[in-house]
Amino acid sequence: MRRPATTDTTTWDERYRGEGYRYGCEPNDWLVAHTGILPTAGQALDLACGEGRDAVFLATRGLTVEAIDGSAVALAKGRQLAAARAATVTWRHLNLEGGWLPERHTYALITCHNFLHRPLLAALPDALTPGGILIYATYLTGQERYGHPANPAHLLRPGELRQACTGLEILAYQEGTTRCCGQPAMRAAVVARKTPAEEPK
Ligand SMILES: C[S@@+](CC[C@H](N)C(=O)[O-])C[C@H]1O[C@@H](n2cnc3c(N)ncnc32)[C@H](O)[C@@H]1O
Repeated sequence: MRRPATTDTTTWDERYRGEGYRYGCEPNDWLVAHTGILPTAGQALDLACGEGRDAVFLATRGLTVEAIDGSAVALAKGRQLAAARAATVTWRHLNLEGGWLPERHTYALITCHNFLHRPLLAALPDALTPGGILIYATYLTGQERYGHPANPAHLLRPGELRQACTGLEILAYQEGTTRCCGQPAMRAAVVARKTPAEEPK
């Protein structure tokens, strides 16, 4: 049977319920590995932010962060984490597979880890300001051999993430077998930059 492309976010609420943080409180490794090129001012967007580990990290570095997720339970934990770290984040409860797209030319940084909705991915280059950075990492076709996600709608095809960076300069790219949370995984990850605005002569 063909699985639907749209996620039931109540499933995510169940996963996030209970004590503690499902994915921990520290930011994703791919984000940390590129801390040196992150902007420290301007607007940032964290898509499918979960319990806010990346959003809070970015807010503590000076960015004005908008963090979106479909799980109200995860967002409540994100608020707690932000309060504990004296960080200000704008949390939005939204179904990212419902047709919402980010404003054009708005964000100095967009991050998305462990989530894929193809129409949204396609809109991200246009949502960056000149010089803006995209940091994206998620699972690749082949991941179904190791576990979740296994739905092809949520798995990047080989080369797809690179192709999605139309008009951006690729600063770092990885694709293939790796380890994630101590397990083998198939993943793709990119850091890409939109061409900076020309200096006035
Ligand atoms: C694997 S978690 C990753 C969370 C976070 N980015 C991280 O790395 O810790 C995937 C996230 O996508 C969110 N998600 C899944 N489908 C969604 C949808 N249709 N709209 C909004 N969020 C969704 C889930 O609630 C969950 O928090």
